[in-house]
Amino acid sequence: MDYFQIKNGELHAEDVPLSRIAEEFGTPVYIYSRATLERHTRVFREGLAGLEKKPHLAFAVKSNPNLAVLRVMAREGFGADVVSGGELARALAAGMKPEDIVFSGVGKTWAELELGLEKGIGQFNIESEEEGLELAELAAERGQTARCALRVNPDIDAGTHEKISTGKADNKFGVPIDMAVAMYLRLAKLPGLEMRGLAVHIGSQLSDLRPLELAFEKIGALVQQIRGAGGSVTHVDLGGGLGVPYRAGEVMPSPADYGSMVARVTRGWDVTLMFEPGRVIAGNAGVLLTRVVRVKRNGNRVPFVIVDAAMNDLARPALYGSWHDFDAVRPSGQRMVANIVGPICETGDTFAMDRATDALERGDLAVFRTAGAYGATMASSYNSRGFVAEVMVDGDKVASVADRILPAEITAAERVPDWLD
Ligand code: LLP
Repeated sequence: MDYFQIKNGELHAEDVPLSRIAEEFGTPVYIYSRATLERHTRVFREGLAGLEKKPHLAFAVKSNPNLAVLRVMAREGFGADVVSGGELARALAAGMKPEDIVFSGVGKTWAELELGLEKGIGQFNIESEEEGLELAELAAERGQTARCALRVNPDIDAGTHEKISTGKADNKFGVPIDMAVAMYLRLAKLPGLEMRGLAVHIGSQLSDLRPLELAFEKIGALVQQIRGAGGSVTHVDLGGGLGVPYRAGEVMPSPADYGSMVARVTRGWDVTLMFEPGRVIAGNAGVLLTRVVRVKRNGNRVPFVIVDAAMNDLARPALYGSWHDFDAVRPSGQRMVANIVGPICETGDTFAMDRATDALERGDLAVFRTAGAYGATMASSYNSRGFVAEVMVDGDKVASVADRILPAEITAAERVPDWLD
């Protein structure tokens, strides 16, 4: 459910017609709906209402790090799951409390670990013994204790795209499950660390709850083993990963289905559960608005609808072959079959082939739906196109939440050394 609906023949974001946004902010532009974001935070929270203890919710900043989006999350009582010093700084800038921030990632640098300690974040999810030893040394040096969870790799195939699968033994994430208990107990002895729990995240865009359930069962067994060996476990971070429908009619497990599975599997664990949802909160709270540059007809072949958005603005189709529904802002009722492409000079800049879509002509506006997660955040300036703009809508209000970064602003940061003269 989202608040991008047709009213009076035109697609609106809440109460704002998209043509108004195109006029005011230009295209391509990402549009986020505040009401949709808020609705999803509530639906996710309500899905977890059956848990024994109040959970800790940390929005996966990587899915949409825009400051205004993070502010909405903070207002809804969400903390943040961050994976870099940059994301940590954003979460704080958006008003999240340091103790509500979890720091994940396999490659946290010494400087990033230090930043986390300096800011007093809630939890480091450590992904190797090496990282744990470094963090212990650094924390002890600073006279601090770092609250930690050990991320476990449960060796489970999440059944998602291989590039976004994280819980198989040959993925770089987490420590091998057969080494986890002994490693946890070793790390727990180090001054500087407070080992308080385990973390797991097996992948993203998960359409089946079964692999998640298997992973959580394995984690439950580890909790018992650690306690049995005298260790303490007060927190378990179950990660994110819940999928969203990208195609009209596609059905995904709901937050309520997910929540009841979690409640069933974790009954009796006696821990505070933590969650790191990203896509399920932000995914369909955003669209990418684009304008048709021209329609290229090649005789009897399928025509190319060339839009002003490209793979540098929305990378998912080029990177993962992902589907995004594509709809006209003012559908005429006529339909066409088209290849939807951007202007970038490589064939990978293709959003869809042979797509049945609303009939479109030069100058028409259209949207890629479900672009609120892993959209703008994965943008680049390839082909010197600059960085795409972002706006947020709230009822009938609309505001820029990220100005377009123009190619000239990017070249302004480049230098030609005088020895090239
Ligand atoms: N926690 C951890 C440790 C993660 O690695 C991720 C996502 C999340 C939470 C949030 O997962 P979500 O709830 O959003 O599924 N760029 C890809 C997605 C990469 C996801 C990486 N990790 C895409 O566009 O599909």
